[in-house]
Amino acid sequence: KRVPIPSIPSIEAPKEVSSGDGAIQGVPEQGSTVSITVVGASGDLAKKKIFPALFALFYEGCLPQHFTIFGYARSKMSDAELRAMISATLTCRIDKRENCSEKINQFLKRCFYQSGQYNSEDNFSELDKKLKDHEGGKVANRMFYLSVPPNVFIDVARCASRSASSSKGWTRVIVEKPFGRDSESSGELTSGLKEFLTEEQIYRIDHYLGKELVENLSILRFSNLVFEPLWSRQYIRNVQLIFSEDFGTEGRGGYFDNYGIIRDIMQNHLLQILALFAMEPPVSLDAEDIRNEKVKVLRSMRKLQLEDVVVGQYKSHIKGGVHYPGYTDDKTVPNNSLTPTFAAAALFVDNARWDGVPFLMKAGKALHNKLAEIRVQFRHVPGNLYKRSFGMDLDQATNELVIRVQPDEAVYLKINNKVPGLGMRLDRSNLNLLYSDRYSREIPDAYERLLLDAIEGERRLFIRSDELDAAWAIFTPLLKELEERKISPELYPYGSRGPVGAHYLAAKYNVRWG
Ligand code: NDP
Ligand code: BG6
Repeated sequence: KRVPIPSIPSIEAPKEVSSGDGAIQGVPEQGSTVSITVVGASGDLAKKKIFPALFALFYEGCLPQHFTIFGYARSKMSDAELRAMISATLTCRIDKRENCSEKINQFLKRCFYQSGQYNSEDNFSELDKKLKDHEGGKVANRMFYLSVPPNVFIDVARCASRSASSSKGWTRVIVEKPFGRDSESSGELTSGLKEFLTEEQIYRIDHYLGKELVENLSILRFSNLVFEPLWSRQYIRNVQLIFSEDFGTEGRGGYFDNYGIIRDIMQNHLLQILALFAMEPPVSLDAEDIRNEKVKVLRSMRKLQLEDVVVGQYKSHIKGGVHYPGYTDDKTVPNNSLTPTFAAAALFVDNARWDGVPFLMKAGKALHNKLAEIRVQFRHVPGNLYKRSFGMDLDQATNELVIRVQPDEAVYLKINNKVPGLGMRLDRSNLNLLYSDRYSREIPDAYERLLLDAIEGERRLFIRSDELDAAWAIFTPLLKELEERKISPELYPYGSRGPVGAHYLAAKYNVRWG
């Protein structure tokens, strides 16, 4: 079990307070049960992430004693077929450690399936009946994971809330991205969901917030004296948020062409990291205190300008005799698509702490490597004694803090150091915290952490609706301009480092990508 998150000690004895999702806080729930319904259970995300994460939580003893998992989708499937589907794809970190077939069998016995339409309250009533049978009269808490395309989110919210919500316990709904395509559609989605659910019941997931190193950002910053005093325009020259994948959109072209890399990665994953990175110290670790600070950062950000953005799209490439297809070679993508598969952007937080500091984002598919990292480049040492005497290049002599989110999770600080010996030569070295050297436990998948948080009612790592509005406000004008003016993306070969334009953009702000 994980260590509980400390909260502000209360002076009075806890009272019964409703959290807004039906849960009564301050009263231990004895004899309660949790039913988790994965809506869209036949889909890619359910197989790849949700069921494996639920199994890992079960294996680690993190799920409540009484729990049931239901798969729900339109496809016809029996319980046995669902179990076969789950076990065929149950690759998880635990497999690597030991043979867990006994645990897998125990887990599968708790998994059931109900077929139905996403807009049928009758079908959800049938699900409700089956859920009740398994809940055996206990206080039933229910979680619905909406792992379906966004056009059915509101239907599912309506049917689940009207026909299958819990009468005595809590009801929570996890919503997957994309949360709209722009400010307007996101606003419509939010108001559509709020017709049937309260904000407290909605858990908007951004799985990057569940990544170990992203969660560690605040700990690094607020629990170490050495970082926080440097965390401002006074010492930081620029911050880089980099996401790169070494594969294209194969298999997801239909979805991707409607969104593009800016909506798929920048507006959510990278922007969320930026908000956590740049926020002021929150009053406490309470979810609302943290999200209040993130919203302030997002609302302080300048709307993204076209001249601060470079877009690209990968084209086919032959390397080592292997043909790598271009983005528009995908049959589900129109031949003349202008959808960016790469983007670089310079963003600014117009507040006292970050005035003038460029936050450079770079995200791309089909690049030369798979990587996600945060790079913090510090300013030059004023009047650096060693700069001239020992031939250090001014640019290379600055410190850089790198938080490598994936792969090979690490935090390292580039420093200048004397090369041992009788001479006086300086060298760039790393103070390196490589997780695989320091910690023997495997890092849990982001979905494990987030599912557990949702079960426990911890909303800290989920996106509040005002955060979402503020995030879309930064990107919507740019997205409209890109689309209205039909800006052509710069083509780059599959497996390359991306468009050269990204370097010019960085150079405009006197930055070199790390
Ligand atoms: P899928 O396209 O696999 O859809 C999930 C299920 O929804 C399908 O098995 C299908 O089930 C049903 N479905 C598919 N298309 C439609 C449609 N047009 N109308 C109604 N139902 C449909 O999606 P994923 O599993 O890939 O993703 C689920 C959600 O998670 C999406 O919102 C996606 O954007 C998001 N997401 C996915 C990621 C991924 O890696 N896959 C990553 C991050 C987010 P059936 O026909 O049986 O009803
Ligand atoms: C998803 C995007 O949100 O994140 C995908 O829709 C992307 O396009 C994925 O591949 C990356 O997640 P991860 O955890 O594999 O880095």
